[in-house]
Amino acid sequence: MTSSQKQIMLSALTPSNRITIGNYIGAIKNWEKMSRDYDCLFFVVDLHALTERRDPTHQQELSRRALASYIACGLDPQNVTIFFQSHVPAHAELSWILTCHSYMGELSRMTQFKDKSQKHGESIPAGLFSYPVLMAADILLYQTDLVPVGIDQKQHIELARDLAIRMNGLYNPNRASKSKLDAALKQAGDTKSDPQTVKIAGDLFKLPDAWIPEVGAKIMSLQDPTKKMSKSDPDPKAAVYIDDSDKEIEKKVKSAVTDSGSEIRGTADQPGVLNLLTIQQSLTGKSLDELVQSYAGKMYGHLKAETADMLVEKIRPIREETERLVRDGIYLQQVMQQGAEKARARADATLNQVKDALGLIR
Ligand code: TYM
Repeated sequence: MTSSQKQIMLSALTPSNRITIGNYIGAIKNWEKMSRDYDCLFFVVDLHALTERRDPTHQQELSRRALASYIACGLDPQNVTIFFQSHVPAHAELSWILTCHSYMGELSRMTQFKDKSQKHGESIPAGLFSYPVLMAADILLYQTDLVPVGIDQKQHIELARDLAIRMNGLYNPNRASKSKLDAALKQAGDTKSDPQTVKIAGDLFKLPDAWIPEVGAKIMSLQDPTKKMSKSDPDPKAAVYIDDSDKEIEKKVKSAVTDSGSEIRGTADQPGVLNLLTIQQSLTGKSLDELVQSYAGKMYGHLKAETADMLVEKIRPIREETERLVRDGIYLQQVMQQGAEKARARADATLNQVKDALGLIR
């Protein structure tokens, strides 16, 4: 299949800290696995990272390392488009246009906004509020079919869908009257599905779908397995990062919080044990039952030691390759420039259609 016949897959990560195994298992690993079957765009959302204040030199380091890690995790820049969000101005432009079509109510309902805004007291950055709109722009600019993410991003992708439906409804003249819509649906060969979700001639945006992995959509904190593993957890023992040393990985996994029992069942009442089993499931492809059976009669110590070994083996080559790529600045520079060029051309095509539809003079 040529890339123009393939469906479009897109995803991204915020360079707000080092990348965790949650990001790897819930997202990047799946991007890599599916990348040959789709026309793919993967980027580092450095504009989203600005919702938190950070030292600029440190920010550059985080952004560069994130890009290098994409490649170290197996994404091939020859095969997929890799770039920085801030290198494609259309993201910020479409974000403003979509902001003008978003409602305060729907943005206030975003659970991530509710969680993240809590720590800011009276001075909540407006960027946190409009964060999901920029994310919708990221997705809609490329006429994306599929967005592989962890479960925490599902609500944001639903918003992107809602905004696409709203914009198509407002600005596609073929949706303006029942008779025009019926004719357009007939032409699209789909008169049965919900007309809002069928792509017809004149639509500005394709409706994206989230792709959430069956295993590992929410890897939990090693220190509080009822909470998501997060890049920004202040407790350094809560997350394994994909550039941790072998020793750090071992130490963190061995000190993971589990319950006080000893039998390994992998049931919901053992969230810490279940989390380690989930990590193993994702890394080995084995089923939960199979893993639980293999631990019959064994202690939590075995589970921790083997999970640590698996992670060490998985992470070591990623860490080493990331380091190599970061040192070879010229190659990364080439990847980001070529990626941005390809992305800009595609994003501008959509943005120009949107500008025309809204009456902006070009
Ligand atoms: P971010 O940087 O928080 O996370 C990147 C990806 O990792 C997934 N993830 C997890 N998966 C499983 N277990 C966890 N503990 C875990 N933590 C994070 C996230 O679901 C995500 O897939 N808003 C996005 C970035 C973004 C984006 C986009 C994504 C901006 N524009 C367009 C897709 C499409 C974010 O902050 O992800």
